[in-house]
Amino acid sequence: MKTLLNSSTGPSPAANEASGETLAIRGGQPLSGRVEVKGAKNLATKAMVAALLGETTSTLRDVPGISDVGVVRSLLEVHGVRVVDGEEEGTLHLDPSGAVSAHFEEIDAHAGASRIPILFCGPLLHLLGQAYIPDLGGCRIGDRPINFHMDALRAFGAVVEKSYEGIRITAPDGLHGASIEFPYPSVGATEQVLLTAVRATGTTELRNAAIEPEIMDLIAVLQKMGAIISVEPNRTIVIEGVSKLWGYDHRCIFDRNEAASWACAALATDGDIFVGGARQQEMLTFLNVFRKVGGWFDVHEDGIQFRRAGALKPVVVETDVHPGFMTDWQQPLIVALTQAHGESVVHETVYENRFGFTQALVKMGADIVVHPTGIDAPGRRVPRRALEQAAVINGPTPLGGADIIVPDLRGGYSHVIAALTAEGESTVRNVGIIRRGYEKLFTKLTTLGADFDVIG
Ligand code: EPU
Repeated sequence: MKTLLNSSTGPSPAANEASGETLAIRGGQPLSGRVEVKGAKNLATKAMVAALLGETTSTLRDVPGISDVGVVRSLLEVHGVRVVDGEEEGTLHLDPSGAVSAHFEEIDAHAGASRIPILFCGPLLHLLGQAYIPDLGGCRIGDRPINFHMDALRAFGAVVEKSYEGIRITAPDGLHGASIEFPYPSVGATEQVLLTAVRATGTTELRNAAIEPEIMDLIAVLQKMGAIISVEPNRTIVIEGVSKLWGYDHRCIFDRNEAASWACAALATDGDIFVGGARQQEMLTFLNVFRKVGGWFDVHEDGIQFRRAGALKPVVVETDVHPGFMTDWQQPLIVALTQAHGESVVHETVYENRFGFTQALVKMGADIVVHPTGIDAPGRRVPRRALEQAAVINGPTPLGGADIIVPDLRGGYSHVIAALTAEGESTVRNVGIIRRGYEKLFTKLTTLGADFDVIG
């Protein structure tokens, strides 16, 4: 592992972990060493919401120290849930016994840049008979409608009223089991159904559900609480409602998005990174692509080591719902593909606007052309979606330093990795967004030998 390379001009990166917004990054050095990943952002935040459904205190372990967790914690607290840090770092105790309705303004003020508030609906309807949805945040990577959520809540018997403040949802006659089929296997809407159906009267059948590992982990949490949920073939989930749930004790599934991000950082910078806590099973699809692009990995009991096997090779990738190649993996992969020999194509089929981050890579010297309505390609595995886009990357191209602004979470991480791959100095602004999903980013970069200062 390399020694720390921070210049002495500014405060230490670790000291600025919670507030730094602008980085001066001097790239061109491999990132090498070991980093640990904690629980998945996309499970921890939902499991925290699930605690509202229990009659006793829940304990969640390996919760990452990211701002999305902070937003959900604040929202739980305004609803009267007592959230206490456990002795072990990353442990939260969540006591819902004092849960109360919150005012719209309070919810709005704590909603922040997160999409999780929408998942409070089912639990709050069961607990208090009403829920509000504020203006939802999250990354600007497309329209991000909530129609599947609202249609599902209506199917359970909820009444949805839109007002100038936002959306008010009530359940005057309680919530009952429903038969629901999604037009697309949405992660969030599947979680909405799970968190609502577990306490509804009767049985719910959800067809075309999302089956991401984080959803399976949420189902495990709910089962620990007393829920009866069967995952059946062909994306069907059946939930038998119960009248009472209790608290859980659960260790979050690891964050496979963060693990894939560090793997791509090793590829892009020609480094060698051991990702502690990463597991093979949930990353099979990623690991196949990683190998095809010229990566080498070694699976250990406590993590996975990633580096290049030789020169990087081009690939054709289509993002998809699980078990496909995740949409959250394409951004750091594209940074590595700028260094591959030949033409790569990435088809984005999940979101309609998730290549905005490539503009900064082009500014740094990458040869990337985005096709806003996608491109036809023979042998596609994923059927074309109306929404899709394609990025064609020709490499290898040397990257040079630039002044760039982070647009969203995954794109932002990719900008940091691109700046570390580039020769010369880059200024990367708005890095606070990256804290939504990457715990202790500055500390981890320092551990891996990155040469940067926090300058604002
Ligand atoms: N969609 C609708 N209507 C809806 C809901 C979704 O049309 O009511 C569409 C979306 O517009 C999109 C597609 O369905 O085109 C998939 O969206 P999905 O609901 O699956 O995404 P999400 O639940 O909003 C979660 C993660 C995302 C991740 C996606 C896909 C969380 C908090 N977010 O979003 O994570 O990309 O699933 O796996 O779990 C990230 O971590 O950076 C991130 C964006």
